[in-house]
Amino acid sequence: MAPRPIIIDCDPGVDDAIALLLALASTNELTVLGVTTVAGNAPLSLTQKNARKICQLAGRLDVNVYAGCPRPLLQPLVTAEHVHGETGLQGADLPEPTLALQPQHGVSFLIDALTQAAEKITLATLGPLTNIAVALIQQPQLIENIEEIVVMGGAITHGNVTPSAEFNIYVDPHAAQVVMGSGAPITLISLDVTHQVLTTTERLAAIRALGSPVGQAAADMLAYYGTEDVDRYGLPGAPLHDPCVIAYLLQPTLYSHRQAYVEVDLASPLTLGRTVVDFWGGSGRPANAKVMLTIDANGLYQLLIDRIGKL
Ligand code: BDR
Ligand code: CA
Repeated sequence: MAPRPIIIDCDPGVDDAIALLLALASTNELTVLGVTTVAGNAPLSLTQKNARKICQLAGRLDVNVYAGCPRPLLQPLVTAEHVHGETGLQGADLPEPTLALQPQHGVSFLIDALTQAAEKITLATLGPLTNIAVALIQQPQLIENIEEIVVMGGAITHGNVTPSAEFNIYVDPHAAQVVMGSGAPITLISLDVTHQVLTTTERLAAIRALGSPVGQAAADMLAYYGTEDVDRYGLPGAPLHDPCVIAYLLQPTLYSHRQAYVEVDLASPLTLGRTVVDFWGGSGRPANAKVMLTIDANGLYQLLIDRIGKL
């Protein structure tokens, strides 16, 4: 099969960085048409630079990186330096990128790429959905050229920013609802899945044992990233959120899922940004998303280690 064309929209962020490495290593299955960046885990000035650092670490100077929106649609920007550190990629000492930032705005790249697509494009979204929402507001017909939007975001049970809401959706809930209501085919990978994929000591040791600069940088970043979450959740490792999106594209059989109607709460101060998932048809609305339920965590780490071991 020909590789699947994808655009990765992200806010690196340590787990975004690992997801980028996994995608960039998987050239047989994925053609990365571009990487668009958004404000989220860190301000845009850092997320765009971090994306370029990771493309360079992967030896992929052919990948174009674009800066998108510097803030959410309506909400003030909330960042996550307490998880990803001041640089957004704390733990690894990566050189300043020589790979230049593309002059085109990320949203305009998304619109051009989707408009000119000879084949439908998959969007892998790893951060707040601002760029995707702005593109879809400008050109709603773009959904015709979207194969699938695979979103890391949302919480069915517990949130990680508030008791109800997950970070990517909470940061820009209005953008998330624009995307959920756009009519594009959506696959949702929520915290309920990503909390099954923990960075245990053994798994980090296996990544470090790759013995390569990529393995070492990945293990160093993940060691830093784990500290806050391990303390907070009392789990044997941190949830490795964003690589779940790329793993889904590479090996969907790792997952089980159900179709459901999903809507983002925009009204209640208590539950702002909650993804309300209707599994039992109570809303009377047709399903708009494939909601992932379970993942084979060992399978994901096997895939990750195998692929980044090739970089
Ligand atoms: C999501 O929030 C970010 O901090 C991570 O990069 C991930 O995309 C998890 O809630
Ligand atoms: Ca992210």
